Amino acid sequence: MGREVFITRRERFSAAHKLFKEEWSDEKNMEVFGKCANSNWHGHNYVLFVTVKGSVTEDTGFVMDLKLLSDLIKTLVIEHLDHKNINLDTPFMKGIMASTENICMGIWDQLVGPIAAEGATLHSLKLEETENNYVEYYGG
Ligand code: NI
Repeated sequence: MGREVFITRRERFSAAHKLFKEEWSDEKNMEVFGKCANSNWHGHNYVLFVTVKGSVTEDTGFVMDLKLLSDLIKTLVIEHLDHKNINLDTPFMKGIMASTENICMGIWDQLVGPIAAEGATLHSLKLEETENNYVEYYGG
């Protein structure tokens, strides 16, 4: 087993969502979700960090071609989120509360297989919803 190196690609997307449970009253939704329960939606400028680990290929010196990683993230994730309404438009978020935690796990499920198919391992995701709030997921 060679030495393991971690590489990270950052991608950004802007998307609308709301956090709202239909079976709850407006008051209860506002109490639990605050401004994110606004019924007419609101948006965030999300920042996604995708960290992949693996050993370095001798010929290239790469763990994984970052252009290829970027293309996978764009095709499988960003195209389904950027300038979309996450609650309504994003196939892998259908019927799932559009919290940063759930979006992060949804993104994981999109990427883990295709990255493995390229001979690398998805190590972690970090998804920033705001400057002050972010979620990390390690696939557990
Ligand atoms: Ni929000």
